[in-house]
Amino acid sequence: SLFTSSPPVYPSPETAGIGWDVAFAQADAFVGNLTLEEKVTLLTGVAQGPCIGNIAPIPRVSFPGLCLQDGPLSIRQATYASVFPAGLTAAASWDKGLIYQRGLYLGAEFKAKGAHVALGPVAGPLGRSGYGGRGWEGFSPDPYLTGIAMEQTISAMQLSGVQATAKHFIGNEQETQRNPSLSDKNVTIEAVSSNIDDRTLHELYLWPFANAVRAGVSSVMCSYNRLNSSYSCQNSKALNGILKEELGFQGYVMSDWGAVHAGVATAEAGLDMNMPGPMGFFTTTPSFWGSNLTMAVNNGSLSEARIDDMARRIMTPYFHLGQDLDYPPIDLESGDLNVLGVQPYLDTFKYGPANVDVRQTHAQLIRELAAAGTVLLKNIDNTLPLKAPKTVGVFGNDAGDLINGLYPMSNNYEYGTLAVGGGSGTGRLTYIVSPLDALKDRATGDGTLVQYLLNNTLLSDPTTAFASIAPSPPEVCLVFLKTWAQEGDDRTTLLADWNSTTVVESVASYCNNTVVITHSGGLNVMPWAKHPNVTAIVAAHLPGQESGNSLVDILYGDVNPSGKLPYTIAHDATDYAFADIANSTQLQETENPNAWQSDFREGLLIDYRHFDYYNRSVLYEFGFGLSYTNFSMSNLNIRNVYGGGKITSRPLPAPIAPGGNPTLYDVLFQVTVVITNTGSVGGAAIPQLYLSLPQTPGENPTPVKVLRGFERVSLQPGESTTVTYDLMRRDISHWDTRQQEWIIRAGSIGVHAGFSSRDIRSVGSFSPL
Ligand code: NOJ
Repeated sequence: SLFTSSPPVYPSPETAGIGWDVAFAQADAFVGNLTLEEKVTLLTGVAQGPCIGNIAPIPRVSFPGLCLQDGPLSIRQATYASVFPAGLTAAASWDKGLIYQRGLYLGAEFKAKGAHVALGPVAGPLGRSGYGGRGWEGFSPDPYLTGIAMEQTISAMQLSGVQATAKHFIGNEQETQRNPSLSDKNVTIEAVSSNIDDRTLHELYLWPFANAVRAGVSSVMCSYNRLNSSYSCQNSKALNGILKEELGFQGYVMSDWGAVHAGVATAEAGLDMNMPGPMGFFTTTPSFWGSNLTMAVNNGSLSEARIDDMARRIMTPYFHLGQDLDYPPIDLESGDLNVLGVQPYLDTFKYGPANVDVRQTHAQLIRELAAAGTVLLKNIDNTLPLKAPKTVGVFGNDAGDLINGLYPMSNNYEYGTLAVGGGSGTGRLTYIVSPLDALKDRATGDGTLVQYLLNNTLLSDPTTAFASIAPSPPEVCLVFLKTWAQEGDDRTTLLADWNSTTVVESVASYCNNTVVITHSGGLNVMPWAKHPNVTAIVAAHLPGQESGNSLVDILYGDVNPSGKLPYTIAHDATDYAFADIANSTQLQETENPNAWQSDFREGLLIDYRHFDYYNRSVLYEFGFGLSYTNFSMSNLNIRNVYGGGKITSRPLPAPIAPGGNPTLYDVLFQVTVVITNTGSVGGAAIPQLYLSLPQTPGENPTPVKVLRGFERVSLQPGESTTVTYDLMRRDISHWDTRQQEWIIRAGSIGVHAGFSSRDIRSVGSFSPL
């Protein structure tokens, strides 16, 4: 059948520190000097520490312990740290350089706070479903785009000196029943099993993790869910077989918090670090590991060689990043913010001063990246950019300042702009520039009258809502919508929150120049999009602390919008493939431990691959976004650049390196196109390259086309440039489940270059074999 169980893969491959030779030798020497108990200390978290994850110090050998901190867009458990745009926003910029900068600055902030390990970035969830509560923490449902974002982020964070963690491995596509629960009759109901066939696993969900491993990621966090019936943190096929053997991962596998449900079995399946350690989460209860692992070695049920490998895997990145040399101490405030920690903390941790300001000038990048990740979806009659209007109306509860505090962890607050999502991936804001503040600021210079109504209940009734506005209606009406999303909960609707449809219709019935702006932890359907009075739509995603400034830059044309959708907006929620989350009253009430099964029957056909395969019309397609200028594309050229002779269908045999067989990353072909700015203002284009790979026989349809290249290029009016896309072996192969290999199929590959997945301007083809 398509969905098999997880076959056993043992023993766990040992790291050889490939790519980290010097550090590996250091780690080897370090571990060789430890007692068994000390080695186990490196592998098992303790709750008596200031960070969200703590490995206890070993003073005898001057090891200061490890401080692990969330999350993907900010060091969450910290004061005076920046809140960056979310992964989703970064992806919408399609700008490799800006994503890299974000990683550099994030890494620098973690390091300056004394955190050795950052718990990000996220490639799982990938975004199978728009209902997923954590899609915004990661980048895009497209694995190629997410893969590039992972590799840029990880390389940059680690260059700053902090260890990056690629999470959550793997198939963590829903929050509902992500962990086991107890039924009414006290039966343990197991976590949802993501049942993913081998090809889909490789071509979609694993793909960006391969980029992460290739980029040298220090750590991979295994997820809460089960994969093909086996818990991710004790799935030997996933951890030993795929991650460590096939992808050649040399670092350590860390559990998600409380995702460990066994002792020796998890160690043998490839888990290297148990977080937060105790069985009872943040308590002083025993651990499945800790002294239990020591006992297991002493009584012969677990080999000490496995323990040594785990310890080396953990210590090698530490030495490689020079964390043994002058690493900053842990900010004293971390402990106070760690509400989960168990007091008293071990006094062997090294504390520095409290409340160190690590933000530097990162706000500039935050402002620029959030503007770059803002997507202009509709712009009738050049409504935007605004040109010093006499009056502006600002409407909706997402426009104004926060009134419930600066830490939007799990509070789906009514008033205040949405800058980030909730849960462990949130950030503690030091300030927020709300859209209303930034608009008022801008208005001062222009002499614009800004009037505002922020109460969505009031706004829902157009017969009374606008009584206070004069002159009425304003020249332009800006409606701000938001969509909350957070860890632990899946979304129940793809509409924006707080009566959004009624609010937009109300404003649009009153004002014939209505601009809708969304802040959203994921995609939205937009039933009001075609309303004739809705003249412009702007998807501003989750922008981080400079929200209003980034938006005003776009609205007034100081920055020409260039963001593109990293997902598809359908006409209706029901148009998405299997976009539902496994959940039902029956499942909620089940007494069957294995009832929660999520079969990924759509296989490769998620997001645009679904709409293209079934030839369905959409509202705004993947890769779409407007600009204030126009671009043309010409001169598509395809050439074979492989210097190794005739191209074979199988990759050449080669020693495994991080990322897998290195020849998968050989550049075989190059495609070039020429882009010209044909409009009257400067701006950035994002020419995209899609390939149509040959269809494969069998039950799992090959997508019509897949993204395999993109570049963001800034051009002045009249200016042209040549864009080059490198096509690597992996980019033109498919995963062959029989051969268990990436194979280039005989036949012709279609090449489609354009400005979105459906705005194809140049086509060609080539036959690689
Ligand atoms: C659980 C989340 O799934 C994970 O992403 C996070 O890093 C840990 N908790 C620690 O907060």
